Amino acid sequence: MAVHSNRALLLALFSLLLCSVHGQLSNNFYKKTCPNVQSIVRSVMTQVVAKEPRMGASILRLFFHDCFVQGCDASILLDDTATFTGEKNAGPNANSVRGYEVIDAIKTQVEASCNATVSCADIVALAARDSVNLLGGPTWNVPLGRRDAKTASQSEANSNLPGPDSNLAKLISMFGSKGFTPREMTALSGAHTIGQTRCQLFRNRIFNEANIDSSFAAMRQQTCPQTGGDNNLAPIDVQSPTTFDNAYYVNLVNKKGLFHSDQELFNGGSQDNLVQRYSQDANLFAKDFAKAMVKMSNLSPLTGNNGEIRLNCRKVN
Ligand code: HEM
Repeated sequence: MAVHSNRALLLALFSLLLCSVHGQLSNNFYKKTCPNVQSIVRSVMTQVVAKEPRMGASILRLFFHDCFVQGCDASILLDDTATFTGEKNAGPNANSVRGYEVIDAIKTQVEASCNATVSCADIVALAARDSVNLLGGPTWNVPLGRRDAKTASQSEANSNLPGPDSNLAKLISMFGSKGFTPREMTALSGAHTIGQTRCQLFRNRIFNEANIDSSFAAMRQQTCPQTGGDNNLAPIDVQSPTTFDNAYYVNLVNKKGLFHSDQELFNGGSQDNLVQRYSQDANLFAKDFAKAMVKMSNLSPLTGNNGEIRLNCRKVN
């Protein structure tokens, strides 16, 4: 008996040690300390997305831009101050990333229910998952237990996030440096089945590129002229911009990708077959996307005694 309980104790200690060494996240991290956190996030996101479906897209992108810079640590949420330069004004984020106030609203409700317990990084990960699901996409279990960064990196935000003019080799290498396979990169790009973008980011494609459907280009040119209208918006997915489906890939097969980088995934290169398959098999895409999102949500989290639980997502405690 004594031998058994000693062994059990040793095993428990060993697995604790393993957890702290690997800084592992877990699905039930807040089970005892904040059992309502998932339902709070879900209910705020339900209201937000019902009022403005695009906000679901914006929150998904916010999560991506957080995770690719220092890992999923809510570094993107820190406001610039006189003495601190954060990520919000980096090229890919300035006048572009939206939804900061939605995260604030969720945080306020979570703090009211469980003070100083749930990280901003976990809130963003849950809100992104709910956004996809509320717009008709898949759902997945979000591993939890991230802590919030006390630092941010404007230079990493400028160098780690892909631009809309990227070619296929660049996309593969940028995602590869974060540990993603080309297949996972192509699946994650399917996020462009929702949301909107500004004329200045796709003007060159609709006026100067050859591998574009001509009636699609003409339609986009109506609200995105050669000069002016830089900030005019267009849906990235011409078919169903507020539904998380596989229409993005159908568009690519039909040469209706809006960004140069989108169409690079179906332009005679290594991802053509996969794009074709996703365009014909919505379930395969949904499954691959959910898996790749869990992988993204595991990028370099702060755990244990690293980082902190921020009280206000916009500033360090
Ligand atoms: C593959 C490389 C990618 C490139 C080059 C890229 C580029 C862009 C650009 C330029 C915009 C428009 C920004 C603006 O108009 O201000 C955008 C929007 C968006 N991106 Fe990406 N992106 C990529 C991958 C991803 C990934 C992996 C996700 C999420 C998993 C994502 C989610 C989104 C969403 C949802 C929007 C619309 C946001 C909104 O309506 O507010 N993108 N992306």
